[in-house]
Parts: sequence; C-alpha cells; structure tokens
Amino acid sequence: MIRATYRAARPLLFSLPAETAHGAVHRGLGAIQHTPIEARLRDRLVVDDDRLAVDAFGQSFSNPIGVAAGFDKNAELPSVLAALGFGHVEVGGVTAHAQPGNPRPRMFRLVEDRAIVNRMGLNNEGAEAVGERLRTSPDPGIPVGVNVALSEATDAADAPEDYRDTYEHVADVADYLAVNVSCPNSEGMRELQNRESLEAILGELVDAGADPLLVKLSPDLPDPAIEDALAVVDDFDLDGVIATNTTTDRPDGLKSPNRAEKGGLSGKPIESHATEMVRFVAERTDVPVVGVGGVSDAAGAYAKIRAGASLVQLYTGLVYEGPTLARDINRGLLELLERDGFDSVEDAVGVDL
Ligand code: FNR
Repeated sequence: MIRATYRAARPLLFSLPAETAHGAVHRGLGAIQHTPIEARLRDRLVVDDDRLAVDAFGQSFSNPIGVAAGFDKNAELPSVLAALGFGHVEVGGVTAHAQPGNPRPRMFRLVEDRAIVNRMGLNNEGAEAVGERLRTSPDPGIPVGVNVALSEATDAADAPEDYRDTYEHVADVADYLAVNVSCPNSEGMRELQNRESLEAILGELVDAGADPLLVKLSPDLPDPAIEDALAVVDDFDLDGVIATNTTTDRPDGLKSPNRAEKGGLSGKPIESHATEMVRFVAERTDVPVVGVGGVSDAAGAYAKIRAGASLVQLYTGLVYEGPTLARDINRGLLELLERDGFDSVEDAVGVDL
C-alpha cells in the first residue's frame, strides 16, 4: 500500500525539479514526524529481527541499513527515518558555519540510469544549529552519525581547526563522527585525502576527543591513495571507514542527458565500483567498513556485506524506490541469510574476502 502510493506519486514528483521534489518529500516526512502516522509507519516498516542486529564501533544497530549523508543535512528527520525502518541516519554534511551551497539547479535525476548528479556544495544550517536541533529533538531510537565537512570559506591550510570547530558543536549529540574529505563539489576538498592533510585533520579531531571517528573516502582515489588513507586510519586508531562518496567519473553507458551536468554521480552506475572499493578497504583494515553506493535492493546490500561492509547506507535508491526500501531490503536480507545458511548479518560480513 505504501509502496503503491509512492509508485503513484512518483511521476508527479519526477515532473518537478529534483531539489524541489526533495524539498516536498522532506516537508512531507517532517509533517508526519512525531504524529500517529509515524507510529503506524513504524509498525509496518520496522523489521524487528535479532539476526539483523549489528554492533559496530561501540554502537548497537538494530539493522544494517542506514540513510547516507546528504539526505537529512540539518538533522530534521531522524525519528521519521527510523520509522521507515532505517537502522541509523548519518546527518549532514555539516560545516562550522551556515552556508548556502551552490546556485540552483544543482541536483539532477538521471532517470534512465537510476542515478543522480549533484553539486549541492554543502548547503547546511551550520554546526551550532544542527547540534542544537539534535539536542532538543526527541530520541529517535537509532544511532545518529554526524557527517562533518570543510567550510567553503576556510582555506585548506586551516582545515584541522575548522573540522574541530564543527565537531565541538555536535560532540555531545553525535553517535559517531564521519569526516567527509571526499565531497567533489567543494573546491579543493578532496585534496584533503592526501596523507599529510588527513593526519593533520584526524590528529586534531582525535585530540579533541572525537570517538567513534570514521573517515569517508572518494571512489575516485587511486589504490595507493586509498592505502595511504588506510595507513592513517591505522596510525590514529580510527573506528571505521565509509566507502564511498559520489564520483566525478562518468562510466560508459550512461543514457540520460543529465550525465553532462557537473557534480558527483550516485546511484546504480556506481554500485559495482563502490562494492569493489568496500572489498579493497575491508581486505586491508580491521575496522568496520560502511558500504555506500548504488544500493537499491536486498541483493545489492547483501553484496556489500559479503564484500566486507558491516553497515550499508543509501540515498539515491530511496529516490527511485521510495519509503518502503529499508523494509524491503531488511526482509530480503533475512531471506538471503537463510538461503545461505547464515545465522545473522554479522556472520555474513566479509565472507567473500
Ligand atoms: C550526497 N552525498 C553526500 N555525502 C557526504 O559525505 N556529505 C554530503 O553532504 C553529501 N550530500 C549529498 C547530496 C546529494 C543530493 C546526494 C545524492 C549525495 C553522498 C551520499 O552520502 C552517498 O555517499 C552517495 O550518494 C552514494 O550513495 P547512493 O546515493 O548511490 O546510495
């Protein structure tokens, strides 16, 4: 019924510019949050099964499927997203100060490719406002991570202090901190993934007491650069790696004219590369890996888990599949676990390595 309603509404949503449609969905979800409708959604969409539970970086997740950064930039929706069946939400990217992001249009659907290109440029209300909202909102009952990014106005040389400033505004409300050094839409940001910059930023955050602390990597990093980043993860005893962010690459075979738009590509066309990057990272580190990129069904989530992901996140799949996606994936995962003789998600993590 909920799925059918979304299927019926999708042509109307897709007739609107992508960011307008996102805004409408956002407002709709906000309107039902903390109402009896949210409670009814929770009854229908939360899959309550111990086999789905995952413990990672000191947090308990009731299922492995989370909302990736960018969907709820200002931490307005964790409770209703939990009611849709997600096991965690990563809010943000948040910067030290409020910033408007890039001029519109800046988000584009590639419908034929089940993909999105975005160059939002980290529009958000700033760390103080986001921290205050999380502090004063009712507990959503699921872990909420905060994705932190470099402010547009800050020079790369001052990045460590900028990230620390952001962290300090959300320190008491973040169940984990995800350091975003991989957004392709902010000038010079991805250069922060080089070893020296990463050491400076992560060192500053470790000093500040950030824990658990994860780093989110770009799918466009060449293998030696991923290895360098993982060496830093190891040196600083970080708690996890998120792979991956969007790509500036345009794989062959994209059909939609919007492939020509500048920005980061997400969705189906990046799925297999993101899974390969999960595998590459999981083979080289002992910390939990969060797999992101193109997941839109149980088989895709399961592939990332088998490749080494303890948790899986998605954004673009939600746009195309609608609000029942977390439930559908969680139900499908239980079937796949049963088919393959695993007692739990945790038993399946990394079995393909
Ligand atoms: C994103 N993503 C993102 N990532 C991040 O670390 N900080 C951010 O602020 C954003 N913002 C953002 C906006 C929009 C419109 C999109 C589509 C994506 C990237 C996102 O979290 C994820 O890594 C990629 O989208 C790949 O996953 P999906 O979308 O293919 O499931």
